[in-house]
Amino acid sequence: MEEDRSRNLLSLLKRRGIIFPAFEVHGGVSGLFDYGPVGGRLLRRVQQAWVDHFLRLGNIVVIDSPTLTPHSVLEASGHVGAFNDHASECAACNAVFRSDHLLETHHSNPDSLAADELDALLGEHGVACPSCGEQNWQGARPLNLMFSTRIGATGGGRQAYMRPETAQGMFLTFPYLYRHFRSRLPFGAVQVGKGYRNEISPRQGMIRQREFNMAELEYFIDPEAPLDHDLSPWNDRPFNLVPDTQGPTPDPSHKTIADAVASGVVRHASVGLFMALTHDFLVAVGCDPERIRFRQHEGDEMAHYASDCWDCELHGAYGWIETVGIAHRGCYDLEAHEKATGSRELRAWREFDEPRAVVKDVLAPVGGVIGPAFRDRASQVNEALAALEQLPESLPFELTLGSGEVVTIEENMVEARRVEEVARGEWFLPHVIEPAFGIDRIIWHIIDHAHEETVKEGEPYVILHLPEGVAPYDVSVLPLFEKDGMGEVARALHQRFLDIRGIQSQYDASQSIGRRYARADEIGTPWAVTVDHTSLENGTVTVRRRDDQQQIRVGQDDLCEHLTRGSVSSLFS
Ligand code: ATP
Ligand code: GLY
Repeated sequence: MEEDRSRNLLSLLKRRGIIFPAFEVHGGVSGLFDYGPVGGRLLRRVQQAWVDHFLRLGNIVVIDSPTLTPHSVLEASGHVGAFNDHASECAACNAVFRSDHLLETHHSNPDSLAADELDALLGEHGVACPSCGEQNWQGARPLNLMFSTRIGATGGGRQAYMRPETAQGMFLTFPYLYRHFRSRLPFGAVQVGKGYRNEISPRQGMIRQREFNMAELEYFIDPEAPLDHDLSPWNDRPFNLVPDTQGPTPDPSHKTIADAVASGVVRHASVGLFMALTHDFLVAVGCDPERIRFRQHEGDEMAHYASDCWDCELHGAYGWIETVGIAHRGCYDLEAHEKATGSRELRAWREFDEPRAVVKDVLAPVGGVIGPAFRDRASQVNEALAALEQLPESLPFELTLGSGEVVTIEENMVEARRVEEVARGEWFLPHVIEPAFGIDRIIWHIIDHAHEETVKEGEPYVILHLPEGVAPYDVSVLPLFEKDGMGEVARALHQRFLDIRGIQSQYDASQSIGRRYARADEIGTPWAVTVDHTSLENGTVTVRRRDDQQQIRVGQDDLCEHLTRGSVSSLFS
């Protein structure tokens, strides 16, 4: 039944040019999809709705960084070493599968298992190869999911990867964000763009792709500051939470996000905030609230950078599917990039309530040696010594000056001292909360939840109940016939609609009016406007509402005004 449903949805997506396998003329490549003439607009609308939703927080900016990422960035972030899935190869037919996928019905969390545990379970349960049916697996091995490439044509170029997440771009623009926000946390950056993962066995249609649309937000906070938002606006909303098995047992009467934070089930208030905002977004773009849940990662399931993570899962034709990961990344990434580069620019300043006396180990310059040794650069050397946050483990050592020049400091040039200073504040590594959205999986579920299959005049009939503002077209203009001037009136009205900011209109004059209504319903167009003989007489047109097929007659000016205001529904009684 569910299989039938996913097949029907995939066939609709293809038939109506929404989403379909890419490069089909060349035989296609699994895990790569096109958004077609109807889907392209749907994708853009969902992406824009997402950006607008988070910009409303007021302290968020949009950035856009390269998808091509040098090795050093992804080595520092841990992706080169740890962004792996285990793969098992069938010794009989050489088909390769993700080992955890082969064990989904035999273990609650196979993704957390080591290679030998995966091999043991495959044997124990006699798991057969989905391709050839044999039970003969080669040992599971970790495969890195990043697409590798090289930057530069000469000398073999420099090792790089297609980014597996957009997040690193946001971390590395931190100094610019910090300056933009006048050195005041909290703030965030969003980025919408492609992510690339060389998935071992793409499956479930567009759920697991090799190039996919991500939308991520990195929210930088001071871990010592309380949450800057109130969670009470969500107090009237029950959340479907599936907590991990190690944390506190939730009180069944606790249903709100504020309760979950207060009882420690959600470990950080800021994670709770983004769970609530995620829920708002999904409902606004058409997901059924009954089919949304948040599942907390078990300790051994968490990504290498996370200290708490909740997946927002949507229920559809493939069961419960992760569509958003909301992770507390701590200071993992900023610290990793600081360690790898020595940069001190990834920190924020925290002012103390009262100045504090701090004891500090310093290397005091010996003027009589530094002066003659460095002459006109001596003051730069003294400044760089004073700015050292961490003393070198041994002498001599290399000191970087403000100008970028590196000089060697010999043992006789400095004197180790312990001094007491008054500090007004300190530099620290901000923590980061990250909601990471998979836009394609969300679009799949928007369509799944909007999809109604009925029967009309003995024929199967499909209506996509997409929300206004998400539907690819806002309105469809249909001349009853293209003769007697109806075509001209309809085209002029179509152009008037297109001239309204944000409105997309489709002109459709082919085949019977019934067929045209059906096509508009099938791609979720909320309003169909028909120009008929009466339109030629008195200028009125028929507006048909997709969801109940009710029709009314209305003047063209009146209709344009309501479309502009987004209030066409108020024309209906
Ligand atoms: P999964 O466990 O399903 O592989 P993940 O935990 O690796 O996903 P994240 O790394 O948290 O996923 O990525 C953020 C979001 O990006 C996911 O919630 C999902 O919606 C989406 N996503 C991840 N991988 C893919 C993919 N191969 N194709 C489409 N969307 C994806
Ligand atoms: N940025 C979250 C992830 O892709 O893993």
